[in-house]
Amino acid sequence: MPDAPRILVFDSGVGGLSVLAALRARLPGCDYLFACDNAAFPYGTKTEPELIDRVALVVRELVRHWAPDLVVIGCNSASTVALPHLRTHLTQPVVGTVPAIKPAASLSATRVIGLLGTPGTVKRAYTHQLIADFAAQCRVVPLGSTRLVELAELALRGAPPAPAELRAILAPLFEVPDLDTVVLACTHFPLLAAELAAVAPRAIRWIDSGAAIARRAATLLPHWTPAADTGFRACFTSPDAITGLYQALAELGCMGVEIIDAQGIEHPLPTPFENNNKNNRI
Ligand code: DGL
Repeated sequence: MPDAPRILVFDSGVGGLSVLAALRARLPGCDYLFACDNAAFPYGTKTEPELIDRVALVVRELVRHWAPDLVVIGCNSASTVALPHLRTHLTQPVVGTVPAIKPAASLSATRVIGLLGTPGTVKRAYTHQLIADFAAQCRVVPLGSTRLVELAELALRGAPPAPAELRAILAPLFEVPDLDTVVLACTHFPLLAAELAAVAPRAIRWIDSGAAIARRAATLLPHWTPAADTGFRACFTSPDAITGLYQALAELGCMGVEIIDAQGIEHPLPTPFENNNKNNRI
């Protein structure tokens, strides 16, 4: 039997876990590596040239180390600027994550859509082109938030966000009459989907890109056959603040953690990682 396809899922932080979840649901049994460039977190406030260079550097080292069959950039901030450059440097297919503006425009009854992303993603030329191509009939209300990215990081480390703070972050969207759909245009935000819905002053539709990414990945793995989920491994570019994630990683099915920096050098873990969690998904 051929080896399970190896898939690298890359983000600046824990947002890649929302993409990983969608991939594991659609393509169980692949050999997953969740890689997180936490040394350079956050990506959403970086300039475009900075991001292009950084993503190319780190992803190339990870690819050298892991030799994946498929690379998934589980990050809107990176994908909306770095994909063309990355694709010229890699032989593997690369799937990006871009704001789900097209499905949002077709599902919105009122044609008033919120675009909740990082400050970088909401102002990108790529994002504006998506709006022009697929949501020209809609009013699209952008809202960039770095704090919401930080809150998702904290939530995965066991500190859930205060509802009042979430409500205040979302307020500019809910002040817009008739807004009925919000695009979660940062992969960190689906990790707070339940908390965001709970503080929304009215029921709206929230749309993320996870399922579309998984569908696209499946088309690039024609020889994949369904198999039992074997969890995933996690890799970070810095030891900073990773032990706080161990419990969440174990609960999600992480089987091992490593640190490989942007130069491809391996580092010891600050504390050993063990998955003793009997309630994890595998
Ligand atoms: N998860 C990322 C995204 O989809 C990046 C968040 C950040 O590092 O600012 O945009």
